[in-house]
Amino acid sequence: MTPISNGLHFSTSHLAAAYGDEPDHSGARAKPLTAPRIREMKGKRRIACLTAYDAPTARILENAGLDVLLVGDSLEMVVYGASDTLGASLDRMVVHARAVGSAVTRPLVVGDMPYLSYHTTPEEAVRNAGRFIVEGRCRAVKVEGGRKRLPAIRAILDAEIPVMGHIGLTPQSVHALGGFKVQGRKRADAMRILDDARRLVDAGVFALVLECVPAELAARVTEAVPVPTIGIGAGPACDGQILVLHDMLGLAPGGTRVPRFVRRYADLGNAIHEAVSRYALEVRSGYFPSEAESYEAEPEEPAKRTSATPTPEPRTEASSLVG
Ligand code: KIV
Repeated sequence: MTPISNGLHFSTSHLAAAYGDEPDHSGARAKPLTAPRIREMKGKRRIACLTAYDAPTARILENAGLDVLLVGDSLEMVVYGASDTLGASLDRMVVHARAVGSAVTRPLVVGDMPYLSYHTTPEEAVRNAGRFIVEGRCRAVKVEGGRKRLPAIRAILDAEIPVMGHIGLTPQSVHALGGFKVQGRKRADAMRILDDARRLVDAGVFALVLECVPAELAARVTEAVPVPTIGIGAGPACDGQILVLHDMLGLAPGGTRVPRFVRRYADLGNAIHEAVSRYALEVRSGYFPSEAESYEAEPEEPAKRTSATPTPEPRTEASSLVG
């Protein structure tokens, strides 16, 4: 049985039904989810996505049945401690993408194109997107922005790389937007976001992240486009949801303001604090390590001496362990 955070317990076959997959009792590795398969999920079942930045966590997310793992440039904030995503370099993003992309089979791994990796020329956008595929082992990339980004998006798609769009609050535009603010509250802004959604879908994106927009607008976009919408702070009507892993696990650095759309599914920050405090206490008191956590030396063999055997040198403790 697999525990779920609301206290309910589901069997693995319940979970398989929730994924829309047949339970696989053969032990065979699951079929990889591709961008076209994610696109086909629209209207069938909701898509569960999270960010991932390293191999061990990515494996846990795969085993928990996540559909999409986004190697998000939120990495810069939640792992590297910055106050925005703008400093995430392409080299750094590709290294983390490779850790995630090499670790999992079933989830679709999407590389998040960082600031300035697609804003100059379409050629540069293609070369940079290609690094996520070739070096980062991703099967798609995500690009922030609406109509202004269409030349870059078209060029990446022309290079056979699936693109996930991202509109609403686009954190790489934080300075232009004047902060991390809900977008599309006014009618004209909402209409522009809806129009951007249609244009991106016409260009060929396979899914669309809607970040921090009113729930009514997200519902309208979801109804208007034939590809899945993946919401973050965009209400319940989207075809899927994504959160930043560190936020939902209670790992956001102390003092960070966590947005109201984040539901805390665990308090790992406190769990880690308790564990390492106990460890420090036990090291200082000598309670750790115990005898069971230590190694013994081999008992010394009584030496069989003949007159020809030279008297051995006395052995130090270290050499008796090694030798
Ligand atoms: O960088 C990121 O993690 C993201 C998601 C929150 C959508 O862009």
